[in-house]
Amino acid sequence: MYTEQVMDHFMHPRNVGEIEGASGVGTVGNAKCGDIMRIYLDIDENQIVRDAKFKTFGCGAAIATSSMATEMIIGKTVQEALTVTNKAVMEALGGLPPVKVHCSLLAEQAVHAALWDYAQKNGIVIEGLEPPVDDVDELEHEEEE
Ligand code: FES
Repeated sequence: MYTEQVMDHFMHPRNVGEIEGASGVGTVGNAKCGDIMRIYLDIDENQIVRDAKFKTFGCGAAIATSSMATEMIIGKTVQEALTVTNKAVMEALGGLPPVKVHCSLLAEQAVHAALWDYAQKNGIVIEGLEPPVDDVDELEHEEEE
């Protein structure tokens, strides 16, 4: 039911850990399944993501998507990092079972929350970035409507 890429990122997650003195930190959860994800970003003076790390207290798909999402945003500008949507992460992983799509949303939103934190701390505006939500479950219902 899981692709090889998902299994690889679950068994050997990239970028696990935290960044001391991170430029931005974002934490989001999903009240329904109880999973929580935290993303740390190190962003340089040119607004390029130099490093990204994550801590995920969640299911295998949440771990695989956090791993892939951090891999995909490293080296990108903060603006480009916004294009790493949950769909892009899922595609890079070769897909996820439908019941696990919400896990990828957790990864996307944790990145957004960390970018928001960075923008707030530095008084900058990242075009298209929405304020973070604490509970990603709310977003899913919005999408369904
Ligand atoms: Fe909740 Fe995967 S089951 S994040």
